[in-house]
Amino acid sequence: MSVTILAIESSCDETAAAVVEDGKNVKSNIIYSQIELHKLYGGVVPEIASRKHVEKINQVITAAMNDAGVAWNDIDAVAVTYGPGLVGALLVGVSAAKAIAYAKHKPLVGVNHIEGHIAANYIENADLKPPFMCMVASGGHSHLVYVRDYTDFEIVGRTRDDAAGEAFDKVARAIGLGYPGGPKVDKLAKEGNPSAIAFPRAFMEDAPYDFSFSGLKSAVLNYLNGCGMKGIEVNKADVAASFQQAVVDVLTTGSVRAAKEYGCECLALAGGVASNSTLREELENVCKKNGIRFFHPSPVYCTDNAAMIGVAGYHDYMNGVRSSLNLNAVPNLKIGERLG
Ligand code: KG4
Ligand code: ZN
Repeated sequence: MSVTILAIESSCDETAAAVVEDGKNVKSNIIYSQIELHKLYGGVVPEIASRKHVEKINQVITAAMNDAGVAWNDIDAVAVTYGPGLVGALLVGVSAAKAIAYAKHKPLVGVNHIEGHIAANYIENADLKPPFMCMVASGGHSHLVYVRDYTDFEIVGRTRDDAAGEAFDKVARAIGLGYPGGPKVDKLAKEGNPSAIAFPRAFMEDAPYDFSFSGLKSAVLNYLNGCGMKGIEVNKADVAASFQQAVVDVLTTGSVRAAKEYGCECLALAGGVASNSTLREELENVCKKNGIRFFHPSPVYCTDNAAMIGVAGYHDYMNGVRSSLNLNAVPNLKIGERLG
């Protein structure tokens, strides 16, 4: 008997719904991105995000059902992101999922967004099974997670300040590339020299798997100010390439070291920053040298989507998770934590 899940995601600026079978077959994956709307402001405006989610959520869910060619009878459970994320944005998806669960008599499964990012790796990589080490680097979160089992996680390291994606976005803004910065820095960096500017790499002596990006971000801003004051023309491509190389060095060193220490045969990458081309190439090379198998999702499953929530929701469902209709949005939900 197969298990078919309708999944809903609205934690930030993507309104998304998907139908996923058996935790890996994506039958539909509808994403309405609000990026164009938030670009004007240089970042996500929470109130605008919530309002747009309200406008789009029903359309996106209907499209996911139609695209998958399923009827309500075919759906075994409704999975929804209930945290972490923007509270007003999360509430829209949670309310829609609760309404469907109530009206259609379906079990409700609250899913952790970061666990969803990790689960995105199972969609295209049938070979990947826990245990493995996973570097989650997104706009809001940067965590190094030991995935002991599908629903059993240990946080090995985390950022002390900015998330990796946040650093990409801030640096992109400072060099005038606009929002979201990650893909733009990635593209421009290909034309620059990654060793042109010696930006710092922060390695924490007391916690080797923690990382920090605020010092790097300040170093880039100081460099740009310094050039401005001295009247030196900035080579933006060199700044992008040198900044990106510093982030990639820190993420690569930490994740490979952790994978080795935990005796992992596999290392996976997740979250929006996982689509960074240099990060993928370097991890691929370093893993090869160290005899570790390296996995990452396709770009569409790296950034926010509901298919990944359908995969994580499937494992939660199979593990017996049933959320009540009191399920609430939890903006600061931790990895491995279950509230409702
Ligand atoms: O996972 P995600 O869609 O949203 C959160 O859960 O935060 O990640 C979005 C982040 C943004 O900061 C964006 O700039 C970054 O992922 N990003 C990238 C790339 N594509 C997206 N960062 C670096 N290189 C990329 N190619
Ligand atoms: Zn995300």
